[in-house]
Amino acid sequence: MDLLDQARAVRDMAYARYSGFKVGAAVRGASGRVYVGCNVENASYPEGTCAESGAIAAMVAAGETALTEVAIIADSPTPISPCGGCRQRLAEFGSGDVQVIMATLDGQQASARLDALLPGAFSSVSLPRG
Ligand code: THU
Repeated sequence: MDLLDQARAVRDMAYARYSGFKVGAAVRGASGRVYVGCNVENASYPEGTCAESGAIAAMVAAGETALTEVAIIADSPTPISPCGGCRQRLAEFGSGDVQVIMATLDGQQASARLDALLPGAFSSVSLPRG
């Protein structure tokens, strides 16, 4: 299964009972392993987590801190792109040239580099401990 297929498969597991909007994400770690995540909503609405966050958490829990490719899929009229917070989360672990593939269930696809999605990202180089 390619990265997008894995995002599509995990999307079915999304817990989206409030928005009804299921999202699946898959990230490829530097090792080549793929980690998947889906959105998990909450009765206290802001406490929900995005699919991208889940995939990143799975990658870090497995001991990887670098990603090389991202795929995101939803049942939307046009491909969705990651929310602002997830752009920052992806930028923590991916370099600017990482490709983010964005897709719809009906087969539309777009892609963008991470540095195009989040130009001027805040990063650890600005912090005293780098
Ligand atoms: N959502 C994601 O999981 N990823 C995105 O990139 C955009 C939005 C989720 C959050 C919420 O559960 C639902 O989609 C509607 O906003």
